[in-house]
Amino acid sequence: MESIQAIKQRFGIIGNDAKLNRSIEKAIQVSPTDISVLVTGESGVGKESIPKIIHQLSHRKHGKYIAVNCGAIPEGTIDSELFGHEKGAFTGATSTRSGYFEVADGGTIFLDEVGELPLTTQVRLLRVLENGEFIKVGSSKVQKTDVRIVAATNVNMFEAIKKEKFREDLYYRLSTIEINLPPLRERKEDIHLLFRKFASDFALKYKMPTVKLTDDAIHLLVKFRWNGNIRQLRNVAEQVSVLEQHRTINSATIKNYLPETGSNLPAVVNNSKSESDFSSEREILYKVLFDMKSDLNDLKKLTMKLMETGSSSEVQKDNEHLIQKIYGEDKDDDFDSSIENLEVLAIPEHSEVDDTTEQDTDDKYHFAEEIEEEETLSLHDKELELIKKSLERHSGKRKLAAAELGISERTLYRKIKQFDL
Ligand SMILES: Nc1ncnc2c1ncn2[C@@H]1O[C@H](COP(=O)(O)OP(=O)(O)O)[C@@H](O)[C@H]1O
Ligand SMILES: [Mg+2]
Repeated sequence: MESIQAIKQRFGIIGNDAKLNRSIEKAIQVSPTDISVLVTGESGVGKESIPKIIHQLSHRKHGKYIAVNCGAIPEGTIDSELFGHEKGAFTGATSTRSGYFEVADGGTIFLDEVGELPLTTQVRLLRVLENGEFIKVGSSKVQKTDVRIVAATNVNMFEAIKKEKFREDLYYRLSTIEINLPPLRERKEDIHLLFRKFASDFALKYKMPTVKLTDDAIHLLVKFRWNGNIRQLRNVAEQVSVLEQHRTINSATIKNYLPETGSNLPAVVNNSKSESDFSSEREILYKVLFDMKSDLNDLKKLTMKLMETGSSSEVQKDNEHLIQKIYGEDKDDDFDSSIENLEVLAIPEHSEVDDTTEQDTDDKYHFAEEIEEEETLSLHDKELELIKKSLERHSGKRKLAAAELGISERTLYRKIKQFDL
């Protein structure tokens, strides 16, 4: 059996924490069997390495390894993604398709964020776990597959069961063995080790000398709460490596990279996610409202321009960017350099950001904007809050935050500037 140290090296896992070692040891022990494993731990603790270790050390290592993020697949298509569908099963099913459970026959499937699976899919999953049987969507033929399941979650499954969002029988079936990864704040000894590793990786990547921490900076990092865990630490190491001229970093400098909320506050017991169903629904509604408002404002601008010039081809040429935003996919390259030229603003407020484009529109337009302002203000606060939360959740990673908010990275960048975040 490969030693824990060798596995860590092979899978790029840094740290000597006893709990981390125990988790890796468990993964090694369970790998030769077909037992289902549930990996638990907060977001960013490194859960994704565990199923990889299990697959690579198992007799399935030459079979397929498929990682599925259950939270990222729309509810309407998840059954078809996992189990496949027959031709004509639903509108758009123009041919028969194999799902992951068929494709991964003889291999391993990693079901990340398994707590997000819809209840109907949970029923199908339970069946496949119990006897290897599944049925394609729109078919009546029972098929067999031989797949090993490793699942992961960062939500409190007991709470999900209590709220009837997760089937208890499936939970027990999935978690025959549970491997829990400790949060970074409980692995204080590993913090500097991880920072040094990331700093040296980024120095190599960006061809710059490696940043070094002073003792007081190390002390600050060790005391910090790291709600985003290793993902957040990696992010901080990257930002510091790229942005700091002086390569010796003291506590005053590193402080600028840490969100204030995280420092020494007492731990909020477990996941906010599991408790905030109502607030996340509200967030979704706000988001829909912002998106609609943003589209409406864009359309208003286009209409005004059309009315002014009376030439659709000219407007089309001059407003390619705007049209693209409303009707098509955003191209996100180069958003930094184009920021000054942006004509579209989701919700016009504080005049400095958009008065250049509004000057030449007529009174009617201004009037329309004015009567909107009151409701806009409170929406603004909500939007600000939404963006802040999302950035926090993703440790400042704009790409992830933008994806979560359903806006382009460029739009997010613009909003960060607008709100002075
Ligand atoms: N022990 C570790 N050593 C080095 N990098 C790690 C370690 N744990 C996590 N990471 C890195 O942190 C990031 C988050 O890990 P990930 O497995 O995606 O977290 P989770 O799935 O638990 O949210 C990844 O970039 C991963 O490579
Ligand atoms: Mg993950």
